[in-house]
Amino acid sequence: MGWFHALQVVEGVCPSARLSDVVEPWFLGGGKASAGGTTFEKDVVVVWTPKGVAFHETIGDALFAGADGPTKIALVAGRTVDNPKLFRAAIKAGATHVLLEKPGAPTVAELEAMAAEAKAANVPVFMGFIKNIAAYVTDALAARAKDPGATVLLESRNDYTKETLAECFSRNSEGLLKNMAVHELALAAQFFGMRADNITSVDLDADGCECLTLGGHTDFSRVDFTLFNDQGTRVRIKADRCSGDGCRAVVAAADGTLLYTRDLVDEAKAKQVQARMKEHPDWLGYLITQEAEYAKLKELCAEHALKGTTPPNVATIEIGIEALKLAEYLTPVIKAKLGA
Ligand SMILES: NC(=O)c1ccc[n+]([C@@H]2O[C@H](COP(=O)([O-])OP(=O)(O)OC[C@H]3O[C@@H](n4cnc5c(N)ncnc54)[C@H](O)[C@@H]3O)[C@@H](O)[C@H]2O)c1
Repeated sequence: MGWFHALQVVEGVCPSARLSDVVEPWFLGGGKASAGGTTFEKDVVVVWTPKGVAFHETIGDALFAGADGPTKIALVAGRTVDNPKLFRAAIKAGATHVLLEKPGAPTVAELEAMAAEAKAANVPVFMGFIKNIAAYVTDALAARAKDPGATVLLESRNDYTKETLAECFSRNSEGLLKNMAVHELALAAQFFGMRADNITSVDLDADGCECLTLGGHTDFSRVDFTLFNDQGTRVRIKADRCSGDGCRAVVAAADGTLLYTRDLVDEAKAKQVQARMKEHPDWLGYLITQEAEYAKLKELCAEHALKGTTPPNVATIEIGIEALKLAEYLTPVIKAKLGA
């Protein structure tokens, strides 16, 4: 993920940003001799160094030495478990803003501590929840605004198979709700006012839920639930690890009339996505399907950091905390309802 974010900046897709530094603790450190380390050296270090990018194994005083001005954004995209440490080091090294990849930290407690430290250092933190700025979601919110009684469904799909699911469970051991559906939970927190302490009921669609133990990890392979809060607001969230790559928002009136439905990759975007997949068959699918949203989020953050303003709709670390709180609340609730 970090490589892709950096690539977009190097390629000028985010005109308000310039890439000054890359910190790569693994491929410039313990993993240097691995296949990934060799590729990183050949395809990234050798190619980007002449473009003025400095490479570091760790975050230290040299970070930002080549920055153009006073605004220094640290984009933190290490493994979730490593991100709290990288986040702190980046602020210590002089970052004026942080763009923190979701979910930000493995637990609510860690993310709360990070938020407090960033606040004390006067460093705004933007979070990498790209769906919060994606058109398929903002247009769904506009459709719902015309009919506040309408139900919104937020759906997320991955293309793992039964064969690859165990590896997915082990690599994303924080679980489906914190790792995958945390995007939808962030939307629920930011745009629907859902909070772990204001949920009045969680309705499950049992057919849309499955909890499995694979390779010693117990997690959901799919979930389908509707949250209701004390304001009378509801939102339905579906996430499935094994049903093809995609995201969708659907808005339906109380009588079931369909008011809006749109996929992240709609018909207009499908041809472009297919062409990019042919150009880059080795890239992970979501880097291509969500390419425009990754660029848009970074550009919004860079543009507003330069102006000292708040990027519209971009999730703050406080929203990230609420999303993680929802995940920590819902995981045992859904497991209990499923008898898992
Ligand atoms: N916003 C999104 O849509 C989105 C999508 C994917 C990932 N993410 C987030 O981005 C962050 C990074 O995810 P990722 O998929 O790039 O993770 P990753 O594990 O592929 O890479 C992250 C870093 O881990 C280190 N690393 C790689 N292999 C290692 C190994 N074998 N041993 C030790 N360290 C190793 C490297 O320093 C690498 O830069 C996570 O927080 C994730 O949740 C966000």
